[in-house]
Amino acid sequence: MSLSVVILAAGKGKRMCSSLPKVMHPLAGKTLLEHALAAATRLPCREIYIVYGYAGDKLRQAHPGFEAQWVEQEEQLGTGHAVAQVIAAIPDEDDVMVLYGDVPLITSQTLTRLVAAAAETGFSLLTSHIEDPTGYGRIVRDDEGNILRVVEEKDAGDREKSINEINTGMMVVKSRWMKKWLGSLTVGNAQKEYLLTDIVNLSVNEKIPVQSVSPDSVMEIKGVNDRLQLAELERRYQLVQAQGLLRRGVTLADPARFDLRGELETGRDVVIDVNVVIEGRVSIGSNVSIGPGCVIKDSDIGDDASISANCVIDGAVIGKRNKIGPFARIRPGARFAGDVQIGNFVEIKKSGIQKDVKINHLTYVGDSEIGERVNVGAGTITCNYDGVEKHKTVIGNDVFIGSNTELIAPVKINDGATIAAGTTVNKDVEAGALEMSKRERKTIKKWKRPKKQSP
Ligand code: UD1
Ligand code: MG
Repeated sequence: MSLSVVILAAGKGKRMCSSLPKVMHPLAGKTLLEHALAAATRLPCREIYIVYGYAGDKLRQAHPGFEAQWVEQEEQLGTGHAVAQVIAAIPDEDDVMVLYGDVPLITSQTLTRLVAAAAETGFSLLTSHIEDPTGYGRIVRDDEGNILRVVEEKDAGDREKSINEINTGMMVVKSRWMKKWLGSLTVGNAQKEYLLTDIVNLSVNEKIPVQSVSPDSVMEIKGVNDRLQLAELERRYQLVQAQGLLRRGVTLADPARFDLRGELETGRDVVIDVNVVIEGRVSIGSNVSIGPGCVIKDSDIGDDASISANCVIDGAVIGKRNKIGPFARIRPGARFAGDVQIGNFVEIKKSGIQKDVKINHLTYVGDSEIGERVNVGAGTITCNYDGVEKHKTVIGNDVFIGSNTELIAPVKINDGATIAAGTTVNKDVEAGALEMSKRERKTIKKWKRPKKQSP
């Protein structure tokens, strides 16, 4: 028997007050739908179906790399109607799992237990006991504790409203039963919709017991309906991630002021100060310290490196024992060997920098290759763009570049050359040479500065 997963994502998400479909809003750097899809993808399923309502192209583009069938539900007539849009495509022998595009943190472990429970009777439902059940469908049981039906908040009487076991909406049901029961749903309820939850009662009427399973954590079943819930879930999830890192031996100055929007690998004794944001795939070696306010995305940081406050590092390889920042911007394609120092207000893009190089202040290096033991003075600019194309700057080993120098690419500075401060270098420099722009110092004595004319 195989498993088909249906993810319901057709709701407009009116309460988000957004032009973006609700399931496209990000949580920890991934869309809500991507989280649900990732959980589904980890299960051994035959097919994933996504029921969407509008902006299908936008949704598809935002989720490349996921193999799923996209099925449009033109009118949103309820969760039962939504599943009915795909059920004909699902073989009778399959189990059908229903997930929600706006319940992002469900885990594949809980879902695996849900699948296992369905193997017993053919119908399992994920339910949970929560303190405030307002808004959810309630689970009504008989005296022996068997599930009888789900009552939606709007259809519930006072006694039912006091039940705090709620329907999470997630379930696994045999496909052929789902087909039959969806066919007999009616809109005889307060919402005048085809409610998927009504199949619970239909099952019980046919003496097919419904097995309940609870999630490992309540966070897994929290849905997002507005930005308040989104913000709350983001903070909870971030805290769980931060606690995971602390357990793995990472020091976080304040676990409540750390954001991981992707995947982070770490070595031993990594220290991360407050307000650090990690995005995409980042690996950090051992004995690394990250100062406050850094943003690090899709980068590798070598062992014993130290990144000072307020650096932005994106798509870069930072070498061992590098000292970066404060206030450095390292852009995609920057690759540093060991013992490199990059200081404040330095921007490096698409450049290879060999060991023991120092670029300590106020410099732009783009499309360059820099050899070993090079010292780049303050205010050096590689002029890599002529308005049409980018050009390369190549700097050999042991080169010394004085402050306030312009290197007009394409240009090569050979090993051991020295560039005097304030030089504009527009042709290659020989190895070992001293290069300086022609300039004379002029003195005008008793110089009177121009005065502002009164209007
Ligand atoms: C649903 C359940 C309720 C449960 C709650 C858990 C039903 C009838 N009720 O209520 O028992 O406690 O979830 O969060 O199922 N959707 C569609 N097409 C539609 C309608 C909805 O795709 O026509 C999607 C929505 O985008 C959403 C999901 O189905 O992802 C749930 O719909 P929603 O309207 O939020 O249902 P609830 O009233 O929250
Ligand atoms: Mg809902």
